[in-house]
Amino acid sequence: MRALVALVLLSACASCAERPRYGASMAQVGHYFELTGRALQGGRLELARWTVHELSETFDDDVAHARPPGRADTAELNKQDAAFRAGALNALVAASTRNDPAALTAAFAAAATSCNACHAAVGFSFLEVSGRPGDAVPTTLPP
Ligand code: HEC
Repeated sequence: MRALVALVLLSACASCAERPRYGASMAQVGHYFELTGRALQGGRLELARWTVHELSETFDDDVAHARPPGRADTAELNKQDAAFRAGALNALVAASTRNDPAALTAAFAAAATSCNACHAAVGFSFLEVSGRPGDAVPTTLPP
């Protein structure tokens, strides 16, 4: 029995250490979002389709399993995550499959608003994502 408890504790700790940091997963999200904007700016629709796909995969494979930052309210974070995936992310993926740069640009701007909604809801309002294609993510422009 004691061995079993030790084993359970050990494996719990091991999976704990393996979980990626939330910030590391978000850095990846930021990279793909910025690249999507730059691809849109350059009229490179096929590249934008791929970066949106990678962005969506990052949410499914990495963000979903990441260790939430200590200062964030986890229940609020999960609520925002579910809303983002079902709403803006879904719409962005759908727009990326159509051959319509204007629709994709609109979905990109709407997604940025939703990125910011989560950042603000969990205490990271200074991490501002611009909805203008080509801008750095997060923005470092003067407020
Ligand atoms: C469900 C909430 C949520 C959503 C949705 C969200 N973020 Fe974040 N993001 C966070 C949190 C929380 C942090 C801070 C992570 C930390 O400090 O560990 C963060 C951090 C970041 C960072 C800084 C990463 C670093 O450490 O360099 C970037 C860039 C970023 N987010 C971009 C985005 C973009 C772009 C989107 C939308 C496509 C987005 N985020 C959507 C919660 C969210």
